[in-house]
Amino acid sequence: MLKLGRNDPCWCGSGKKYKQCHEMIEQRIWQYKRQGHEVPRRDMLKTPAQVEKIRASAKVNVAVLDYVAEHIRAGISTEEIDRWVYDVTTSMGAIPAPLNYEGFPKSVCTSVNDVVCHGIPDPKEILQEGDIINVDVSTILNGYFSDSSRMFCIGQVSPEREKLVRVVKECVELGLKEVKPWGFLGDMSQAVHDHAHANGYHVVREIGGHGVGLQFHEDPWVGYCGKRGTDMLLVPGMMFTIEPMVNAGTHEVWVDENNGWTVRTGDGSDSAQWEIQVLVTEDGAEVISW
Ligand code: MF3
Ligand code: CO
Repeated sequence: MLKLGRNDPCWCGSGKKYKQCHEMIEQRIWQYKRQGHEVPRRDMLKTPAQVEKIRASAKVNVAVLDYVAEHIRAGISTEEIDRWVYDVTTSMGAIPAPLNYEGFPKSVCTSVNDVVCHGIPDPKEILQEGDIINVDVSTILNGYFSDSSRMFCIGQVSPEREKLVRVVKECVELGLKEVKPWGFLGDMSQAVHDHAHANGYHVVREIGGHGVGLQFHEDPWVGYCGKRGTDMLLVPGMMFTIEPMVNAGTHEVWVDENNGWTVRTGDGSDSAQWEIQVLVTEDGAEVISW
């Protein structure tokens, strides 16, 4: 890592001297590191200029999700959602991040009922009254990434499904409350996990959130089985997703071999997920995309 003089301009591009900008933060990080904590690398701290670009990307991401929210209903196919996402995203000068990502064939993930995540939009899949669906939207604007997802209830859904959708949203909100500088990623993980368990649900272990912004998926990996006071130290400038997948039944999941993408619950039970993109700020957290 570059050793900066205290009077050199800070690496973050703020225009301030290092000693008046990131020096204090980095000394504090090194203290935690000496105590044996996992700490972020400098390249995991977004600069103010990068955050601005990512915010612009997130504006598109949110607009796409708002469009979906206004139009989703029983009788439409998940392929139609894919078309909306492609059209709205490109009309705003952006690119859907999933399209061709590691061979993913569509512009958005649509995960219905027992599909945990990475559902592929399909003209034969028609939304029915009573379904629950996660629509996971990710956007590239001028090379900067945003990523968030919402659940939608199609018409009248069962009380069990309504509760699952609500509780998982609460999990994310409780996790978000734990995101603050000089806390730990595990503070968030435990809050998510505890609330899911208190409601009799199980959190998927294999798939988690991720750093995001300069790439689609960056370090750190963000799981929901960690304990308070453990995992990576949270530092201003870190940006990552909180996106727990919570199953009504077993935590176990399997991947559909026919397409290599669609993840389903092991027991066919329902699964729900909400995803937010969060920035650690000087005094807490800012939701960048939801
Ligand atoms: N949007 C998903 C996430 O939250 C990633 C989907 S990868 C894709 O990380 F290729 F399926 F789009
Ligand atoms: Co994500």
